[in-house]
Amino acid sequence: MFNIFRHTSFSVDLGNNNTLLTTSDKVLAQPSYIVFNANHSVKAVGEEAFEMFEKTHSDLLPVKPMRDGVIAEFDSASVLLRELVNKAYGGRSFFSGFNHIISGVPYYTSEVERRALRDALDQFNPGKRSLLFEPLAAAIGMDLNIQEPEGKLIVDIGGGITEIAIISLSGVAAFQSIKVAGDTFDMNIRDHFRRNYKMAIGHRTAEQIKINVGAVWEHIDPVPQRLVVKGKDMITGIPVVRSIDHREVIFILEKSISAIEHGIIQALETCPPELAADIYQSGIYLTGGGALLRGIKDRFEKNIQLDVHVDEHALSSVSRGIAHVLANTKKYAGILID
Ligand SMILES: Nc1ncnc2c1ncn2[C@@H]1O[C@H](COP(=O)(O)OP(=O)(O)OP(=O)(O)O)[C@@H](O)[C@H]1O
Ligand SMILES: [Mg+2]
Repeated sequence: MFNIFRHTSFSVDLGNNNTLLTTSDKVLAQPSYIVFNANHSVKAVGEEAFEMFEKTHSDLLPVKPMRDGVIAEFDSASVLLRELVNKAYGGRSFFSGFNHIISGVPYYTSEVERRALRDALDQFNPGKRSLLFEPLAAAIGMDLNIQEPEGKLIVDIGGGITEIAIISLSGVAAFQSIKVAGDTFDMNIRDHFRRNYKMAIGHRTAEQIKINVGAVWEHIDPVPQRLVVKGKDMITGIPVVRSIDHREVIFILEKSISAIEHGIIQALETCPPELAADIYQSGIYLTGGGALLRGIKDRFEKNIQLDVHVDEHALSSVSRGIAHVLANTKKYAGILID
C-alpha cells in the first residue's frame, strides 16, 4: 500500500573510487573515502576525506571502504553511505523512510558481496530495495537500447575493476571481469618511480600523473605538458622532484592496458557468432574513468579492429543509468534483482 510517509527514492552507484547518489532533485558525486576520529566518530567524508588521505596523523583513521569494486570494509562503507545520504538530503531527517532504493552492483560479484551491499542499503529501511548490474546500467546511461536483440559490447574501466559485457535482450550474453583498472594504473606509476628512480610518491600524486599526462598511445593531440612530480628520495629521505611526460606513462601502463585488450578479445571469443556479427557493426562502448585516458580510442581501434565510442560523461554513465531505471521502474522491472 502507498505510504504517504515514505516519500523519497534514490539511486546509488557505490563505486570503488567515486560514489554517485541521485535523488529526485540532485546528483551528489563524492570520492568513496572516509576519515574517522580516534573515538570512531566521523571526521570527514567524500571530497574532504579524500583531501586528507595520506596526510593524516596517528589520531585519525582514513579508510577507503571499497576494493576491487566491492565492499571490503562493511562498517565503514555503511557509514560512508549514511553520511552521503545525509548530505544529499541536506541534513533533512529521513525518519519517514524511503520508497525505493536502487543500487548498482558489478556483474561479477559473489552472493556474499551482494549480501554486504544489501545490508548496507537496508539501514535506510526502504519500502523496496533493488540491485542492478552495472554493465546494464552503463549501457542505459549511454542511451543504448538494451532490450533489443542486437548485441552491444560495453567496457567499463572503473577504479577497482574493468567489466567487459556483451549485452542483448536485457541480459548479459558474454562477460569478462578483470581486476585491472584505475587503481592498478596508479600502482603501476608508483612502482615505476620506486624501481627506477628510488623515489616514493603518494597515491594521489600517482593519480594526478595519470590524469594530467596519462596516455596509452603515441599519437595524441594535444600533447600534454611535462609534469613536475614531487616525492621523496627513498635512500636519503629528502624531498625530490622530477618531471615526466606522456610517453613515459604509455610505457608504464602498457602491461595493464594490454590486459584489458586481452579481456575484450576473450569476451568476443566466448560470445555467440550472431552477437559477434552485431558488434562488428556497432563497435565498443567505452566508459568509466579509465575511458578518459588519452589515446585509448585510437589504440583500441587499432589493436581490436572495432569502432570505439567513448562515453562523453564516462564518470557518470552507471549512475545515470540507475537513475533512469528508478524513474521508469515498470519498463525495466525485468532487470532489477533483489
Ligand atoms: N581524466 C582521467 N584520466 C584517466 N583516469 C581518470 C581520469 N579521471 C578519473 N580517472 C580515474 O578513473 C577512476 C574512477 O573511475 P570511476 O568513477 O568510473 O570508478 P568507480 O565507479 O569508482 O570504480 P568501480 O567501477 O571499479 O567500482 C579512478 O581511478 C580515477 O583516477
Ligand atoms: Mg563504476
